Amino acid sequence: MDQFKLEPDKPESYWLESSKRPHTEKKVELADADVIIAGAGITGITLAYLLVKAGVRVILFDAGRVMNGTTGHTTAKVTAQHGLIYDRLLNEAGREKAQMYYQANAEALSFIRSQIKQQQISCDYSVQDAYVFTNDDDYLSKLEREYKAYQTLGIHGSLTANIPIGLDVKSAIAMEGQAQFHPVKYLNYFVSEIIKEGGTILEQTPAVDVETGNLIQVKLRDGNVLKGKQLVMATHFPFYDKKGFYFARLEPQRSYVIGARSKTEYAGGMYISAEKPKRSIRATPLDNGDQLLLIGGDGHKTGQGIEEARHYNALLQYAKETFKIDKAEYRWSAQDLKTLDGIPYIGHQTSGESNLFIATGYDKWGMTNGTAGALLLRDLILGKESEYQQLYNPSRFDINPSLGNVISFNADVAKQLIKGKLDRPDQTVEELAAGEGGTVVIDGKRAGAYRDEMGQLHMVDTTCTHLGCEVKWNSGDKSWDCPCHGSRFSYQGEVLEGPATKPLKRLDEKR
Ligand SMILES: Cc1cc2nc3c(=O)[nH]c(=O)nc-3n(C[C@H](O)[C@H](O)[C@H](O)COP(=O)(O)OP(=O)(O)OC[C@H]3O[C@@H](n4cnc5c(N)ncnc54)[C@H](O)[C@@H]3O)c2cc1C
Ligand code: FES
Repeated sequence: MDQFKLEPDKPESYWLESSKRPHTEKKVELADADVIIAGAGITGITLAYLLVKAGVRVILFDAGRVMNGTTGHTTAKVTAQHGLIYDRLLNEAGREKAQMYYQANAEALSFIRSQIKQQQISCDYSVQDAYVFTNDDDYLSKLEREYKAYQTLGIHGSLTANIPIGLDVKSAIAMEGQAQFHPVKYLNYFVSEIIKEGGTILEQTPAVDVETGNLIQVKLRDGNVLKGKQLVMATHFPFYDKKGFYFARLEPQRSYVIGARSKTEYAGGMYISAEKPKRSIRATPLDNGDQLLLIGGDGHKTGQGIEEARHYNALLQYAKETFKIDKAEYRWSAQDLKTLDGIPYIGHQTSGESNLFIATGYDKWGMTNGTAGALLLRDLILGKESEYQQLYNPSRFDINPSLGNVISFNADVAKQLIKGKLDRPDQTVEELAAGEGGTVVIDGKRAGAYRDEMGQLHMVDTTCTHLGCEVKWNSGDKSWDCPCHGSRFSYQGEVLEGPATKPLKRLDEKR
């Protein structure tokens, strides 16, 4: 049952709330395209923009509205500093790949910067230094090793105990000259250009399957079919996964953000803690000149751990202690996927299918990785070579620790599957107050129930339609989340996020 009163009442992303998205077509003649792109987040939109500018006929479509996925719920730091990553990459993937990873992300930052400058995109862009900091003695040596990796790889950075916002830290690594922006304002420009150049954008159009071949056919939930020569799935999990086994090598991680008006002048910079629970800090300017502090973190595997509402409370508590803030104006959450070796999967979905592409697994660093992905896929689709093809190749398996991660990812799935089947709910449907949800026992059987604010009951079968794990109630977002591969369903059972493509079964609600 809900134990917390969440403020504000509804999860609302500042980015989506503060910017109107351009009008896109609801229904069009379903003409064939050269390239079909599924998923209108930063990857899909940037790629569609690059391709229409190269004269390619593109259909970009999304299950929901454009940018309503993780891109509209990010914190939008645009940086090649991805927490503590370079020491690990250096040791596990080798110097060349670690260097390539940095280079790909630094180039993505340059691409974003140059587009904003050349096209005069008004998107609250500003140059900022990025910091990864620690307050934990155990992490001091990790920061030192990371800094050493910067030096080995030729990454410009500095080790310091002082950061501009006066936060008490034991040590921090600064990466200078990074950036932040308003992701929706930035991508709005691309969306308008795609439409202007004759590209098609379809919203509220979930895809459920694919027929492969020289002409790819994408089957939509409404029964229509999109046809094209090439297909890119920039949808986190692919909705067609016959041979790639992506569900077994991607781990969904949910994370939280609160937005609160800063009470004091914000001295600049973008911050992330090295240790868990992660704390991410940046600010963004509001129209009246105030600064909105964005404090994020408290990530966890989707569908697992403590009650979701508590994560918002943990961030608010941190904001109180650190910035004397007692009220959040915004709160939202979203998820992103982590690959086995921490490097995204971008490229051919399997080595056997030359006209099927995927871009996923950014581990919460998709502003640059998603842009790098769009640049790489543009090259592959246009038949050009890209120096990043091997780095991001989804079919790679040459990094040793990956194998251990396959085992641990899937051992956890097996554990969650069994745990879900054994868990016995301890409440009845009558005990649910308005606005509350959870698993209940009805006639001796397990069911999922949510009583809406009007008192109406919505009941579902809690067995996930992907591979049969038991979904868990998410009190923060009023959804059913699967602990195995991260599928999410609305309280009415509709699919919010894959890999599931079918809704939860609805149960009789006459109670
Ligand atoms: C809380 C949080 C904070 C973050 N902060 C940062 C940050 O500061 N800097 C950074 O670089 N990264 C950050 N990230 C990560 C970054 O936001 C993501 O990596 C990036 O937005 C992912 O972009 P995308 O295009 O892959 O996916 P999305 O933006 O999620 O787009 C995927 C789209 O696919 C659609 N879709 C799914 N299934 C189907 C289907 N079957 N048919 C049709 N469409 C479908 C969805 O509706 C969705 O719109 C953060 C992530 C989180 C969760
Ligand atoms: S997402 Fe795979 S079983 Fe639920």
